[in-house]
Amino acid sequence: MQALDQIIKDRIPAHVAIIMDGNGRWAKQHGLQRMFGHKQGVKTVHEITTAAAKLGIQYLTLYAFSTENWNRPKEEVDALMALLVETIKQETPTLMNNNVRLMTIGDLSRLPEVTRQKFEQCLEQTSHNTGLNLVLALSYSSRWEITHAMQQAATDVAQGKRDAASIDEQAVSDYMTTAGMPDPDLLIRTSGEYRISNFLLWQLAYAELYFTDKLWPDFCVEDFYAAIVDYQHRERRFGKTSEQLEVES
Ligand code: IPE
Ligand code: IPE
Ligand code: MG
Repeated sequence: MQALDQIIKDRIPAHVAIIMDGNGRWAKQHGLQRMFGHKQGVKTVHEITTAAAKLGIQYLTLYAFSTENWNRPKEEVDALMALLVETIKQETPTLMNNNVRLMTIGDLSRLPEVTRQKFEQCLEQTSHNTGLNLVLALSYSSRWEITHAMQQAATDVAQGKRDAASIDEQAVSDYMTTAGMPDPDLLIRTSGEYRISNFLLWQLAYAELYFTDKLWPDFCVEDFYAAIVDYQHRERRFGKTSEQLEVES
């Protein structure tokens, strides 16, 4: 049976987050420069986004460029920034056709002007779409986000906008760049690495983690469905016992 047929339609995760890793190794395996891996990776983004929209997933968050990735060789960083512009140009019609709304999280002020402008245009253009929310994490890291959130909360307290005691878990979530989004239900990481790499540390508190050896450019829609099927067979206990969950259901 195909993985798609095994997906339970009324248990689709609301939010799937993906650490898209392995582009460089894919290129190396094929005797190519790293950028070819990134270009091939864009094709996977297209396929997976389309599949997620069709499945009725509400949020798909893709880790596209981390704060730490700024430390890569300048030529790779520059080429990635140019690829982002090209990709947005090329993909905006598909986003519109699929009713996908583009969102971003991260420190966009660090992006080159032309890249930032292109994103802002696409954010605006897709802002009324009501299907999948495609969230690109760009110049993002969780520690950057948490640091920023703490500065904001401290400023609000200092300016008398709120009491320190009113900062509960919900308030912390609201200070994050993901305010208003449900926490990810499922995190997928490709390329056989078993780490989180500074991604959504607060939001992933109770996510189900799924690791695959497939390199991102080789990750296909079937692999995506397989990850969702695997997720649907997990028991999410949120600290409770299995017996409690049985009584509640
Ligand atoms: C992921 O692929 C894409 C980005 C981080 C921009 P990598 O470029 O990290 O690929 P590997 O890990 O070197 O194979
Ligand atoms: C994580 O991949 C960041 C993105 C996928 C954008 P990296 O390749 O940068 O992660 P590490 O450095 O191997 O942990
Ligand atoms: Mg990598």
